[in-house]
Amino acid sequence: MRPVIILLPAALAAASLLACVPVEPQVTARQDYKTFCVNCHGEDGRGDGILAASLSPPPADLTQIAARNGGTFPTTQVMSVIDGYTRGQHANAVRTEMMPEFGTLLEGRSVLYDDGLGGPPVPVPERLLQLAQYLERMQD
Ligand code: HEC
Repeated sequence: MRPVIILLPAALAAASLLACVPVEPQVTARQDYKTFCVNCHGEDGRGDGILAASLSPPPADLTQIAARNGGTFPTTQVMSVIDGYTRGQHANAVRTEMMPEFGTLLEGRSVLYDDGLGGPPVPVPERLLQLAQYLERMQD
């Protein structure tokens, strides 16, 4: 009996600690893509969603982002485009009002992200990063 009596308070303490951790519903990048992107960019990201025909310029083919960028997937830039952070700031890319900003919709838990430029990792919204990584896996 002894060990049980000794361990019980510890177990209760652990349980109450766990109860304090906020549980955020886990939204997968695939779900976010389907909710926010599929109507324009299409199921496979090829720019052929149901709204595509009515948009000018048309939605970008998301499977060609790396190809358009010399073979490297520009994760940081893609996150900025989705977030809306670089709206109008790209010298070499056509950015119009057709691509909505999703920053506020994808906020929530942050994770540390290393942009590979040598600086310290920076916090970015986890859903934004996962969505960019989802697009990266779509590349031809
Ligand atoms: C209302 C239609 C629409 C929706 C919804 C939409 N986009 Fe776009 N998107 C566009 C259009 C149009 C372009 C190309 C022209 C521009 O940049 O304005 C574009 C461009 C992009 C680009 C730039 C591609 C490149 O080669 O630089 C990315 C990345 C992108 N969209 C990702 C997304 C993601 C991820 C979502 C969902 C969170 C999304 N888009 C939702 C219309 C849309």
